[in-house]
Amino acid sequence: MQDGAVQSGASPSPLPEKVSVALIVNGVERRFIVLPWVSLLDALRDHLDLTGTKKGCDHGQCGACTVLVDGRRINSCLTLAVMRDGAHVTTIEGLATDGALDPLQQAFIDHDAFQCGYCTPGQICSGVGLIAEGRAKSADEIREFMSGNICRCGAYPNIVAAIQQAMEAKP
Ligand code: FES
Ligand code: FES
Repeated sequence: MQDGAVQSGASPSPLPEKVSVALIVNGVERRFIVLPWVSLLDALRDHLDLTGTKKGCDHGQCGACTVLVDGRRINSCLTLAVMRDGAHVTTIEGLATDGALDPLQQAFIDHDAFQCGYCTPGQICSGVGLIAEGRAKSADEIREFMSGNICRCGAYPNIVAAIQQAMEAKP
């Protein structure tokens, strides 16, 4: 028998047990059961019907899947749902409060900071995280700290302007 050939009669490895996960998503506790390798991104989209968070590359290279976990921006395609059990997750659907847009959402509208809009939820969640970090002081620093969020439409000047507006409006 050649190396690597599968012996007939060999029993396949059993699937691992599904795991119960609880997250506080946009202020509401959500429980679901997933296989251990399900990413937070897929859990949000496929198990919680929160499709505002986008899948671009699924490899940590585009930022389309950015959400806030315990207040920090992360690529949700690069973390497993089970690793975040008990965490607070904020997605684009949870940024508005009492019907009022988050200041950065409004700034994106004011500055026409999107074209197709596919990257926009990730850009806005990342921008909200960046503003909370308080470490960007200039347009150059915004560009640097937002460099993980790719926009294939090239709306970068408007995105930077929107973030500057929201940053300056922050009390
Ligand atoms: Fe997560 Fe691209 S989908 S970084
Ligand atoms: Fe189209 Fe950014 S607006 S990818």
